[in-house]
Amino acid sequence: MNAFILETVRWRDGAVRILDQTRLPREEAYLELRTVDALIDAIRTLAVRGAPAIGVAGGLGVALSAAAFEGDDPARLCAHVDASAARIAAARPTAVNLRWACERTRGAARAAGPGEAGEIRARVLAEALAILEEDLALSASMARHGVALLPDEGRVITHCNTGGLATAGGGTALGVVLEACRRGKRLFVHVDETRPLLQGARLTAWELARAGIPFAVQCDGAAAWRMQTGAVDAVLVGADRIAANGDTANKVGTLGLALAAQAYGVPFYVVAPRSSFDLTLADGEAIPIEERDSSEITEWQGVTWCPPGTPAWNPAFDVTPARLIRGWVTELGVERPPFPPAGKSKG
Ligand code: MRU
Repeated sequence: MNAFILETVRWRDGAVRILDQTRLPREEAYLELRTVDALIDAIRTLAVRGAPAIGVAGGLGVALSAAAFEGDDPARLCAHVDASAARIAAARPTAVNLRWACERTRGAARAAGPGEAGEIRARVLAEALAILEEDLALSASMARHGVALLPDEGRVITHCNTGGLATAGGGTALGVVLEACRRGKRLFVHVDETRPLLQGARLTAWELARAGIPFAVQCDGAAAWRMQTGAVDAVLVGADRIAANGDTANKVGTLGLALAAQAYGVPFYVVAPRSSFDLTLADGEAIPIEERDSSEITEWQGVTWCPPGTPAWNPAFDVTPARLIRGWVTELGVERPPFPPAGKSKG
């Protein structure tokens, strides 16, 4: 297979540079985001998407706001950074990585103390770049831990896109598959197309084709049947937010996959960094689920397939109860609840 690094989100010449995922797979085009408003728009429109990737983008957005602030008063700069961090964190509600990264970079400004504005700006940028660098390493650790869960030869279902396009590094669930193939495992990937925005059909298919890994896209509704026919050895998905008891929010359709996997005895794993855990929530009930515009269901790029005025319900995520999940692959290992705070977990 071919190894490659995607520049999904980076800091370049004072701007946040992202690979515009709304244009994939037709073209590989990059956006230079120079304002907080442009960054929020890119997160909302899914030009940059996937929980870890929007966390990295959010942190860099806070650095962008600090750099753009005109004036040298440290207190006013910190207040400006706080306001920008709050606005960025609210761009999408479900993936806790976004809030986490905004809090971390905002905190770096506060921790700078009553120093000079230049020092505060430098600390915020350093923190945002540290989040980016850490994300690269986290993908590699999750992949290392996850590979052992997969057979030397077999078939895997993935949902949404959880590869390099969803992180700054090699990915979460798809990152495990990519690493397993790199190490010589012979895997076939059943790619859920992932209605309505087709992250599987557009993005996962694009990544797998580039990597030279055999795959086929299937309608989301075909996954249960695949499992019933015995053609699946494991289901690997990512996560947008994991509560303390292990209830896991991920792309809508994940719950159905998990129920089918349980019915047919297929192991179901979540692969996510610890920054996707929200241990302040006891269970999944309080996880905020983003609802997106109904037009994402009723039309695609201007082509409408429903009668005019058709109502549609468009939750972007669902919550899978912990009892349906066999293990949570993190940078710390294969974990199960109760999850200790990240610093105290097994290595
Ligand atoms: O709406 P998206 O495309 O941002 O949703 C992404 C997912 O649901 C992923 O599965 C999740 O963020 C984990 S990705 C590493």
